[in-house]
This record gives sequence, C-alpha cells and structure tokens, in this order.
Amino acid sequence: MNSIKKKLKSYLRDKNQIVCITCYDASFGKILNDLRIDIVLVGDSLGMVIKGDTTTHNVTIDEMIYHSSCVAKTKQNFIMMADMPINSYEDSDIAYLNSRKLLDNNVDIIKLEYQDKHQSIIKKLVEENIPVCGHIGLLPQIAFEKKDLRIYGREAEERDKLIRQAKDLEELGVDIVLLECVHAEVTKEITDSINIPVIGIGSGESCNGQVQVLYDILGISNNPPKFSKNYLKDADSVSNAIKNFSNYVKKIKY
Ligand code: KIV
Repeated sequence: MNSIKKKLKSYLRDKNQIVCITCYDASFGKILNDLRIDIVLVGDSLGMVIKGDTTTHNVTIDEMIYHSSCVAKTKQNFIMMADMPINSYEDSDIAYLNSRKLLDNNVDIIKLEYQDKHQSIIKKLVEENIPVCGHIGLLPQIAFEKKDLRIYGREAEERDKLIRQAKDLEELGVDIVLLECVHAEVTKEITDSINIPVIGIGSGESCNGQVQVLYDILGISNNPPKFSKNYLKDADSVSNAIKNFSNYVKKIKY
C-alpha cells in the first residue's frame, strides 16, 4: 500500500476528521501547508474563482497542470488532490495520460466527477496505481441549468443510486468518495456502508471530512453557496479564518 493510501486509511482508523480546502496558487498553498491542512484540492472551481466564469465548463487540463504546479511548490505536509477537468477523461487512455501529467506535477490523487459510464476508466487508473477520488452527487461539469444545482438523494431512486455508486467506487478501488450537495441522511448511509473516507461539501456532517472552496470560507467568492460560511468575518487574519474552519471540522464527531 502506498503512503497516500496508508495515510487516508489512518484517518478512518483514528476517527480523525479530514480537512480539505481548495487552493490554486503558492501563496495560499504556503498558508494551508503551515496550518497542516490535510488535503489541498486544486479544484476546477478555478473556472469561477480564478477565471471569472460562471461554470467549470471551460477549464482545461493545461490550466489544472499550471495551478497544480504552483501549489506543489509549497507542498510539504498536505496530500495534494487535483481535479480532472471536463473533457480530460473521455476514455481510459486519455484519462491515463492526463492523470499522469498531474501526477508528474506532484499531485497525489486525482478527482473525477463519476458517472456509471466511467467504470472502465477508473479500473484502468487503479490498475496503473493512480490514486483516485470519485465525486458524486452534484456534478458541476454536467450541471447546465439552475435546476441541476440542488440537493441530491431526496427521492428513493436517486438515494439508492448514490449509495450504489459509492459502493461501486469502493469496489473499483478508489481511495476517497466525495459527496457534493447530497442529502444528509444519504451521506450517513454512504459513510456507514463503505470503508474508505467520505468527504462532503454541503452534504451534512455524517462523513469523515469536509471540503470547502477557499474563497467561499474567506467570503470573497462572487456567488458563494448557501451552505458556506465566511470565517474571515470573525477572524483577524486569513490564516486564523482558515484555522477556525479547520478546528470546526476536526471537532465534528462522527
Ligand atoms: O472544484 C472544486 O472546488 C470542487 C469542490 C467543490 C469539491 O470540486
């Protein structure tokens, strides 16, 4: 088992909540590193918070590589995860080549927005020993209308599908399941039924960790989601704001 897999397993064994925060550059990377944030995610949310678009739909693999390489310069303590952007995992070979490019830039684990059609792609990545995070629930890369931005798993059929997908991902050998805007009760069912870390955003507290977009918790995003909180409001520095978010996550009992 490689060291990333071991570290991820240890969070579950020690019931240690995982703090994950997005980052796109070296200045914030250093702050997150010094605060010993567990996982730093170079998210394709950079489409919105860096490029000023309204979606992630125009983010390219070259942009992900560039921002990953900036963040990587500060990486000493954290696990670095990076998104595979839209159109970068159309088939197994393309997914393999693109994920290798991210790993060559010091990324430890790649994240992709999972649909059932991606099973063979994940199989290939796992066979090639590439650590993978499967993202389910709200999938921004295929969200085209306002109605897609909602909580997933309220209805029985969607709930069953999410639980089945999380189990499929575990079976396929991924290292983390990330839930975005999943109904809190479904989050609990998923966390209770699989043996790999489940990290949530807007999905309640019944999981093994929380992820947030850095600029949302600093209150500087243009259009922050309802579930995010501005931690800078009650802090005297960026660093203390992030520390307060981290302390909140570490105290969650689950
Ligand atoms: O790109 C991103 O920032 C993400 C988080 C919302 C989980 O995928």
